[in-house]
Amino acid sequence: MKFNVLIVDDEKNIREGLAKALEMDGYGTLLAKDGTDALSVFENNEIDLVISDLKMPNMSGEDLLKKISSSTPSIPVIILTGHGTIEAAVQAMHNGAYDFLTKPVNLDRLSLLVKRALSSRELILQYRVLQEELNKSLGKQKYAKIIGKSNAMKKILEVVEQVASSRASILITGESGVGKELVADAIHNLSNRRDNPFIKVHCAALTESLLESELFGHEKGSFTGAVARKRGRFELAHNGSIFLDEIGDINSAGQVKILRVLQEKTFERVGGEETIEVDVRIIAATNRDLKEEIAQGRFREDLYYRLNVVTILVPPLRERKEDIPILTAAFLKEFSAENNRVIEGIDSKAINALYSYSWPGNIRELRNCIESAVVLAKGNIIEPDDLPPAIYSANEKNYIKINVGMDMAMAEKQIIQATLHSLGGNKSKTAEMLGIGRKTLHRKIEEYGIE
Ligand SMILES: Nc1ncnc2c1ncn2[C@@H]1O[C@H](COP(=O)(O)OP(=O)(O)OP(=O)(O)O)[C@@H](O)[C@H]1O
Ligand SMILES: [Mg+2]
Repeated sequence: MKFNVLIVDDEKNIREGLAKALEMDGYGTLLAKDGTDALSVFENNEIDLVISDLKMPNMSGEDLLKKISSSTPSIPVIILTGHGTIEAAVQAMHNGAYDFLTKPVNLDRLSLLVKRALSSRELILQYRVLQEELNKSLGKQKYAKIIGKSNAMKKILEVVEQVASSRASILITGESGVGKELVADAIHNLSNRRDNPFIKVHCAALTESLLESELFGHEKGSFTGAVARKRGRFELAHNGSIFLDEIGDINSAGQVKILRVLQEKTFERVGGEETIEVDVRIIAATNRDLKEEIAQGRFREDLYYRLNVVTILVPPLRERKEDIPILTAAFLKEFSAENNRVIEGIDSKAINALYSYSWPGNIRELRNCIESAVVLAKGNIIEPDDLPPAIYSANEKNYIKINVGMDMAMAEKQIIQATLHSLGGNKSKTAEMLGIGRKTLHRKIEEYGIE
């Protein structure tokens, strides 16, 4: 990223001297001889930082600073002051200056100060690029809301588009919080049933006695409390889709009944004689391993095969960490709007912390984490300590201490040990990450006696 610095001073030598030094550091420079001149350069160019003298003809540095810090507070302004005008510099800091430099300017200090002032600017610009990427990806999606650019997510979106308009039953599996319900929403919204009902049933919440009447309805007087006829969820979903969430939690009696609807597309209300026929598309989800449930005799194999015409496995977040920045950008946008906060960027240490954490609660946990960070943030940039301690400290564990003059073998041992640990002992990933072969890694593990 090339940054442009606007240098404002009525003395030509100073302007040009500073410009030369900054250009050597790789910055673009624009020059102005007073405040009025500076303002017009500022308005007509992409300026990332302003360095300005205080005393100048026409418009002074003070007035320029006030104008810039009220119109674009995110642009840092560094003030130049002569000897004996420290009070003026302090006043300028009150008015929003980033820092000040005394003349004659020490070029090393200039270089450091500019670099520091622009580091947050860099974060802001990176964040803007991310927001643009997010807007583009949301613009492309007819069903919106599913965010992700990892190959795993792209594949899921392809499958979703492909199967949406068929009638095939779909089973969505994956850990808690990975976005199974979002995938189900996308399937319904993309299907030609989108204008018909999408009925969601949280199966785990239905007690054994409620399940049947909830799903299939009941006739008046069919049991105590059945004061009127009630239509069940399957009937309500006619011509639309039904989402059977946590299907792995349904008991065997319920499983038999659902199997029958799937096979015959008919059922009777509790206490009713009439056979009701429905056209319903079934989407089911579970975070259980249904194969294992079948092996344990807790889930019917025949139902499994009926549901599982198409399976969509949504992988955990730790296996698609590439999605973290764009998801973070989306949640920052959502929660800063909701809380009336202006968030302009996220510190790179904070991003590293998000990368290092393993996210057992997946995207739901990331979303909650970003919500609390937005609420707790002290400034306009999310800093590492705005994140929950468990997540921030996950990143701390990612550093090891290597002293100058330390034994090479000792350093190597530590690097291998720490990397192995952070990857949960996975040797092939460790070898890949460290850029060495698996055999070499094995040899070193043995040599250094790493557990
Ligand atoms: N790809 C994604 N893009 C944006 N938001 C997402 C994405 N995946 C999940 N979320 C959000 O994360 C939260 C959890 O998602 P969802 O409820 O779909 O998960 P789930 O897999 O059904 O979890 P559970 O098994 O606990 O029911 C929701 O707030 C959802 O909006
Ligand atoms: Mg869910």
